[in-house]
Amino acid sequence: MNLRDENVLREMNLYPLWVRKNGPAQIDQPSVEVPQVIEAQPVVNIAPVEAVRNVETNIEPAAGWSELKAQVKDCTACKLRAGCTQTVFGVGDEHADWLFVGEGPGADEDERGEPFVGQAGKLLDNMLASIKLKRGDNVYIANIVKCRPPENRTPNAEEVATCLPYLKQQIALIKPKLIVALGKTAATSLLGKDATLGSLRGALHDFDGTPLLVTYHPAYLLRSPAEKAKAWQDLCMAVKQVQ
Ligand code: URA
Repeated sequence: MNLRDENVLREMNLYPLWVRKNGPAQIDQPSVEVPQVIEAQPVVNIAPVEAVRNVETNIEPAAGWSELKAQVKDCTACKLRAGCTQTVFGVGDEHADWLFVGEGPGADEDERGEPFVGQAGKLLDNMLASIKLKRGDNVYIANIVKCRPPENRTPNAEEVATCLPYLKQQIALIKPKLIVALGKTAATSLLGKDATLGSLRGALHDFDGTPLLVTYHPAYLLRSPAEKAKAWQDLCMAVKQVQ
């Protein structure tokens, strides 16, 4: 294992590797080469709670990427735009197999105009690296809302409902093989269902025909590093789904 892989595992709280006292030097750990995969459970039938997903908005469907980007840039459909520096559209490979969806921009993202560029973003990059992925390379990263909520509060149902059509259009254009919802807001907004993150993990969901898995938000993992091992399990399941 090279130093970079070691650092990635360390970041995921999976390093140092366990060493057997009188046995072979090293026990196989969830390795970056061959992820330990937990079998995905059968698709969960989500009750059709469409409260957020079906709210009518004034947002017209865009003809393609450039029109969509322009629409988002000029959007004033909810109050969030008045309190942020700029909209944060999303970043990455527009034909990616992998789409990671977070909650909404924070201060760093608001300043830079790119999702997940702060501390949580660094961890997300390491999570990607742990399964041999890289931002921008077969990976797209976006958020549920495109504008930073004040004081980094969770976006409310109306803000989510107003902004979601943009993400839906991004998904329709990207056509990812898998959506990974990062954290409860992303998961419940996309699934139109209020549930705990714990109850949504470990199962393959469906978002308008695209498989969707749920894992912890990197910001939560920064606060609760012991949960990184569970996030690793989720990522391994995701790898198996995309293969
Ligand atoms: N948290 C998110 O949910 N999204 C970002 O872009 C940054 C932090």
